[in-house]
Amino acid sequence: MSHKPYDDEDHIELEHSDFDKLVQKGLSRRGFLQGSAAAMGLFLAASPLAKAVAAVTESKLLGFTQIPASTADTFEVPEGYIAEPLISWGDPILKGAPAFDESGLQDSAAQAGQFGDNTDGMSFFPLSEDRGVIAVNNEYTNYEYLFPHQGKEALSADEVKKAQAAVGVSVFEVQRNANGGWSYLKDSKYNRRITANTEMELTGPVAGHALVKTSADAAGKKVLGTFNNCANGQTPWGTYLTCEENFNGFFGTADAAFSADKHQKRYGLKDKSDYQWFTQDERFDIAKNPNEPNRHGWIVEIDPMDPTSTPQKRTALGRFKHENAAVTVDDNGHVVVYLGDDERGEHLYRFVSKNTYNPNDQAANRNLLEEGTLYVARFDAGEGELKGQGQWLELTHGKNGLTQENGFADQAEVLIFAREAATQVGATTMDRPEWIAVHPNNKSVCCTLTNNKYRGVEGKNQPVGGPNPRAKNNYGQIVRWWPRGGDHTAAGFDWDLFVIAGNPTVGEGLYKGSANINADNMFNSPDGLGFDNDGRLWILTDGKYSNEGEFAGMGNNQMLCADPETGEIRRFATGPIACEITGLTFAPDHRAVFVGVQHPGEELAPSHFPAGGSSKPRSTIMVVRRKDGGIIGA
Ligand code: FEO
Ligand code: CA
Ligand code: CA
Ligand code: CA
Repeated sequence: MSHKPYDDEDHIELEHSDFDKLVQKGLSRRGFLQGSAAAMGLFLAASPLAKAVAAVTESKLLGFTQIPASTADTFEVPEGYIAEPLISWGDPILKGAPAFDESGLQDSAAQAGQFGDNTDGMSFFPLSEDRGVIAVNNEYTNYEYLFPHQGKEALSADEVKKAQAAVGVSVFEVQRNANGGWSYLKDSKYNRRITANTEMELTGPVAGHALVKTSADAAGKKVLGTFNNCANGQTPWGTYLTCEENFNGFFGTADAAFSADKHQKRYGLKDKSDYQWFTQDERFDIAKNPNEPNRHGWIVEIDPMDPTSTPQKRTALGRFKHENAAVTVDDNGHVVVYLGDDERGEHLYRFVSKNTYNPNDQAANRNLLEEGTLYVARFDAGEGELKGQGQWLELTHGKNGLTQENGFADQAEVLIFAREAATQVGATTMDRPEWIAVHPNNKSVCCTLTNNKYRGVEGKNQPVGGPNPRAKNNYGQIVRWWPRGGDHTAAGFDWDLFVIAGNPTVGEGLYKGSANINADNMFNSPDGLGFDNDGRLWILTDGKYSNEGEFAGMGNNQMLCADPETGEIRRFATGPIACEITGLTFAPDHRAVFVGVQHPGEELAPSHFPAGGSSKPRSTIMVVRRKDGGIIGA
């Protein structure tokens, strides 16, 4: 079975009537550029690749020697660096939890006290220069390693509970050791597991709405759990944001009479679920509890310093397949959160808080994500242009056609069905928006568009053009924008493409990649993304690791570092067999970086990372530092 629902899942088509409406609005040459092989030809003739980025010049920001691509079952770093495992799936976190056991026979209670599976987005919350608390997502779990039967048998009630305990969020304390390395503290008072069964509060405009009431929660305010937590965000008031992505894959039913309605279809909800939770836990039976999925797909705010605190689902930020939450405070004090919806042809969003940040009242800041305005992006460009302008379109009930007449009864419905609201207002379909990162020292923002096999394919309504310039995009790109006037709350922005990933040795035209891609630094499917304090842009990949054909020479998934000024990109690290590199956070002094190795050996690929020998492969957080104790990347 596949544990990557988003890889195999077909995008839910826009209804033709929706598309026609947009065309009638005159958006066919803007949000929906005409896409075809002919348009691609025009584009290539009119726009040299160099237009995508400024000329590449040698970087003064990057101080390490690039490493080659790798197919080894190891985590490789540049000369002068050390990489060590910090924690792996199954390591005990809570008092009394048992050590990891290879057999897969440990029960749900054991897993509930251990580090979860599939490490993903994470943030470091400092206690001092040398101590801190890491909050980290456990996105999903690999049944081929979680159970002795590899998920090939029907799950028992306790096996479903164990799977539910292997996902969510892990919180634990870490410290720097005398030798400069880092370790986690098993019995720290900060340590916590948040799972698919942890009680949380539904807050904001959707709380208490009829569409989120269930038999177990008549008030529509108390939700159990979070799962498929992809990437993350960190607020300046000290909270962690975990982002619910492919929640749909955990719901299913055996009820033959079930048929998904149009809202469920748009969110990929269906009867089939590889995870089987519905077979032992009725909450996940979509026929019996059709409103339960409406309570997932949100941004959840967690206080990592208080293990007794109740996580808050922040509904003002919209419901979709959230990748990460890139938080910045604009000069005017409003909190701006940029948000990607990772599915082929879905959209890029922005939240602007109603109230302003007060650095002298952190308690008051705790409510800033409760109220505000959600927007979705429309990218405009001339035909064949690799840069252009854009507009943030407001998703407020009563505006931009978000009316009862068009199927939106109130603001709660606009937020619960944010994808449909985005289509209504004419948002641009994107090549799977993954992580977004805001530059620390200037006003630019970057977003990885990881890949999109449906781009330009007939019947998919995802035309080629603008920031999505390639049909059947197998390599991905990074779009960058500058808010108009340097104001993150402004309605307009200017954009370009910072990099178009590609393969210069086997590709043709745009599939060779932009000017800053060469045979020595090539990669596919950029996904994780983050700036360090000096403005280096770190790129993590979740791509094809076959190292053959279109992907020849790229090797295993990897971590790269870019200089946004010069365009130069260097490979910094490579991961083991069949892993994804995802999750990135720095120690406060930037003399250590924490990086996630997710699902090494997925689908029984021959990995034994990190322990080697004949051991089970385990998702692991690596900590990377310099032998001379210097700043990472410098
Ligand atoms: Fe969980 Fe879009 O990656
Ligand atoms: Ca991702
Ligand atoms: Ca991905
Ligand atoms: Ca992943």
